[in-house]
Amino acid sequence: MVILDKTFEVFIKKKKIKRRVKELADQISLEYRDKEILFIPILNGAFLFASDLIKEIALPCQVSFIKVSSYHGTESSGAVKSIMGLNIDVKGKNIILIDDIVDTGLTMSTLIEEISKQAPASIEIATLLLKPEALQKQLELKYVGFAIPNRFVVGYGLDYEGYGRNMKDIYQLKPGD
Ligand code: IMP
Ligand code: MG
Repeated sequence: MVILDKTFEVFIKKKKIKRRVKELADQISLEYRDKEILFIPILNGAFLFASDLIKEIALPCQVSFIKVSSYHGTESSGAVKSIMGLNIDVKGKNIILIDDIVDTGLTMSTLIEEISKQAPASIEIATLLLKPEALQKQLELKYVGFAIPNRFVVGYGLDYEGYGRNMKDIYQLKPGD
């Protein structure tokens, strides 16, 4: 599969994604059974994972999307440029931040730092993918779908130069490309 100048190969198929997303949702539903959750998915990458995950949550909950920008091409720029949409009152809320992937962890650690200033009751992270070898920040990652090698991926919300988010499977950059 080709996007612009790069070739990708299938890495995690939709059935496997679906199964894992359900497991995570069940785990969250169990662990938050006595609490109310405010899900904060991070656009754009988290849109499919968040919708599939939240649909499977068997509890009353709130959802509020935010957007940050920090990534260019296939390498992290390492800086969160801005946070948009964080205009709800999070004081006393049990927040679960949702992202497609934690790479360096800079996005998540900046968000946690910023959101913590507003005194939520708790903040946890749900990420579909994690690249442990790329992680530069100390983060407690409570809900992780798959730990993957440090290679660029697209599909199921993840993009390459804005393309590929609509694909149902997750693809990995072909070695040597
Ligand atoms: P971090 O701040 O380095 O953890 O980067 C997190 C963001 O970078 C994610 O939310 C993604 O949008 C993007 N990102 C990191 N790795 C990949 C990848 O392999 N494919 C597509 N986007 C990625
Ligand atoms: Mg993202």
